[in-house]
Amino acid sequence: MREGRPSATATYVAWARSIAGVDPIAERLVPARMARFARAGSRSLARFPLVDMMRLRTIAIDDAVKDAVRDGTTQVVVLGAGLCARAWRLPELSGSIVYEVDHPATQQYKRRRLERITAKAQDVRFVAVDFEKDDLSIELEKAGHDASTRTTWIWEGVTPYLTPQAILSTVAKIRARSANGSVLALTYFTPARNRYRLVGVRLALRMIGEPFRGLMSVESMHRLLETNGFDVKDDAAYAELAKRLALPAPRPTVATGERVLVAKAAGPPNVADVNPI
Ligand SMILES: C[S@@+](CC[C@H](N)C(=O)[O-])C[C@H]1O[C@@H](n2cnc3c(N)ncnc32)[C@H](O)[C@@H]1O
Repeated sequence: MREGRPSATATYVAWARSIAGVDPIAERLVPARMARFARAGSRSLARFPLVDMMRLRTIAIDDAVKDAVRDGTTQVVVLGAGLCARAWRLPELSGSIVYEVDHPATQQYKRRRLERITAKAQDVRFVAVDFEKDDLSIELEKAGHDASTRTTWIWEGVTPYLTPQAILSTVAKIRARSANGSVLALTYFTPARNRYRLVGVRLALRMIGEPFRGLMSVESMHRLLETNGFDVKDDAAYAELAKRLALPAPRPTVATGERVLVAKAAGPPNVADVNPI
């Protein structure tokens, strides 16, 4: 992340969501020139792999959130929220408190952009946290998060940018504040089978100051969650999600190494287990 600047990757994915037609608030959140460009070229941009990915990822995670609300969960924590607009977009959250966790620079930009838009959530609380340095648990406690009742956690598009150590400690913190039945919806990026395929993406991300640092295999991610007392309920690549939702699948590029996973807190964490990464 560039010091004092909002996350560039957060802006790109919000832009892709606006083109994908799954997030009517996103257009108001991205810089005006990007919104104009999207409007002018939306038909040709519509089949960009990132656009197809964001359509599928947004719908899959929206569905997990709506299911959790139907089950009676009234707290949502959005980790690395970026320009996620669920608190302003989903009427299902009208009885929920949403905690938006991110770097302060991205939060300041987002708050300015959302000044005139009323949230659909009952309340939105901004919690400034750097997963590499700060204690998520302490900051959530201060913001009023209740660890004794169920939470829906959204950790979308964030783990690849974190060090393995920050991923590990954040999962442990999430679990410690998850009453049984809490839901964790996350995305993660698997290492490409052909290591040269990722070189271009890695270079581009490094140049914008948000390098990939935390790619994980399916086995490592499941083991990490299971040792922390989460049951993995679903874990799908984009091709699978596209089939289920009868929507276009992204062209197979490196980006399609990303997966969308939903897990449920059940039983105590097995803290004695070894580091699974
Ligand atoms: C690709 S964006 C995804 C944003 C949002 N979740 C979405 O899907 O639209 C990555 C987000 O992770 C956040 N992030 C990356 N590293 C972080 C860290 N160490 N601490 C807190 N947030 C971080 C960035 O600020 C950014 O908002």
